[in-house]
Amino acid sequence: MQDRPLDRREFLKRTGYLAGGVAALGGAGALAWRAGAQPPMVLPSQSKPGNFSDLHIRLVMAPAAVSLFPGTPTDVWQYTGTVISGRSRQLEPIPGSYLGPTIHVARGNRLRVRMENALPEATITHWHGLDVPEDQDGHPRFAVLPGEVYNYDFTVNERAGLYWYHPHPDMRTAAQVVKGLAGLIRVTDEHEAKFDLPSGEYEIPLVIQDRTFDSNNQIAYAPGALLGYLGNQVLVNGFPALTKTCRTRCYRLRIINGSNARTYKLAWADGTPITVIGTEGGLLEAPVTRPYVMLTPGERLDVWADFSAKTVGSQMILRSLAWTPGGVGGGGQAPVNGAAMTIATFNIAAAASEYRSLPPYFGDFETLTLDQATNAGSPRIFQISYILSGGQPVWLLNGAVFDMNTTLPNENMPRNTVEVWEIRNTLASPVMPHPIHFHGRHFQVLQRIGPTGGANLTAYNTVNQGFINAAWKDTVLVMPGETVRLLVRTSDFPGLYVYHCHLLEHEDMGMMRNFRILA
Ligand code: C2O
Ligand code: CU
Ligand code: CU
Repeated sequence: MQDRPLDRREFLKRTGYLAGGVAALGGAGALAWRAGAQPPMVLPSQSKPGNFSDLHIRLVMAPAAVSLFPGTPTDVWQYTGTVISGRSRQLEPIPGSYLGPTIHVARGNRLRVRMENALPEATITHWHGLDVPEDQDGHPRFAVLPGEVYNYDFTVNERAGLYWYHPHPDMRTAAQVVKGLAGLIRVTDEHEAKFDLPSGEYEIPLVIQDRTFDSNNQIAYAPGALLGYLGNQVLVNGFPALTKTCRTRCYRLRIINGSNARTYKLAWADGTPITVIGTEGGLLEAPVTRPYVMLTPGERLDVWADFSAKTVGSQMILRSLAWTPGGVGGGGQAPVNGAAMTIATFNIAAAASEYRSLPPYFGDFETLTLDQATNAGSPRIFQISYILSGGQPVWLLNGAVFDMNTTLPNENMPRNTVEVWEIRNTLASPVMPHPIHFHGRHFQVLQRIGPTGGANLTAYNTVNQGFINAAWKDTVLVMPGETVRLLVRTSDFPGLYVYHCHLLEHEDMGMMRNFRILA
């Protein structure tokens, strides 16, 4: 039972970071997964915003058990939901999965959530990607004790896109997420609806997570001191070895990296370029194609998958290709971060009569420009660094470890203002990639200043064709030796929010800071 905040150093000791990652077990049970299982994961086909309304739900966070493998069920922690008022189809469970129900809303809907903590420890829920008032955002200072309730009430005012929710208590986010606590929020709007994109069974969510299971089918959680938790197998939507039966037509894949620490380099196994139509903050101005796309923890991708020229009986395999994290980033248990892995297999099993072509242009995309920025000449700088504190490794953001209530001077910013922010991953050693996330803020990548030589450049060259920069984003991968410049419009909600590394073990060890939107 944890009913009061831990001392951070005590926490690091207790959770075994210092042990440097105890060998985790991948027993026979882990290999005997349900190959070919077809998890139901069909989103409601009504994509028109007019079919959505305000929603009031109850979300209970509690221990549960799911049957992932033959034999012993796997103990998990899970969100389960019920509709208090609103349309029941707007809350969609994923049967058999440890993931929470998908919340469907249209832009402008009011969302009320009665969160009940039935866990044996404190928690709070964060709506990743939504810009909401400070007491609605799931800041760790609002964590509630076991048996307590937190009531949320806010308006969803985001572009159509795939957002998500997960716990956010200080020092316990990684451990709670790895046990299964996470769910999707699918936001639709009038602009998206115009394009009549593939929906219903042709819109497939892919929540990518990695886990290691012990020989008794239980989640083995032994994160590395520097690298965080790298599981030995990929789960999609909470299921091992996802195989999906498809037709010869177009699909919309709504992809999210819900892993604690693993970054994927997504590509089609047969070399077909990957077509991206959206990111964290919704549709791009126009589709783009890439040989592969990087997807770091917290990031989302909206992918157009055209199987219409495939022959019935063929397969399309979504892979994570090998890449080099650089520095210490590629170490740890096998498969290391950067190892090649299969993500999902699409069996093209039947012909389809309907063909839908890729819209060439989505428009309605506001491009932020440098001359809008009030600090164009002097970016707000957030440096990534590292210290040994009492012999323990601690990653820092902006030169400091997380503190619940305070900000440093450069972490106070005016509301509703366009600024340039610069994230520097330029310390000499140790280095690794960090996925940096800002709460309640979408930004555009203005510029990536990559490393100029050495091992950092070698690593960079394995990933640098896989970034989508002209996009609304809320999480960005910053490679070793790299500086990323962002154009950000600050929130119009005053208050205290966090930004952090979305490598969840880094967040928990204190690679998180507050920023304050001034009134
Ligand atoms: Cu998904 Cu504070 O993060
Ligand atoms: Cu967030
Ligand atoms: Cu990090």
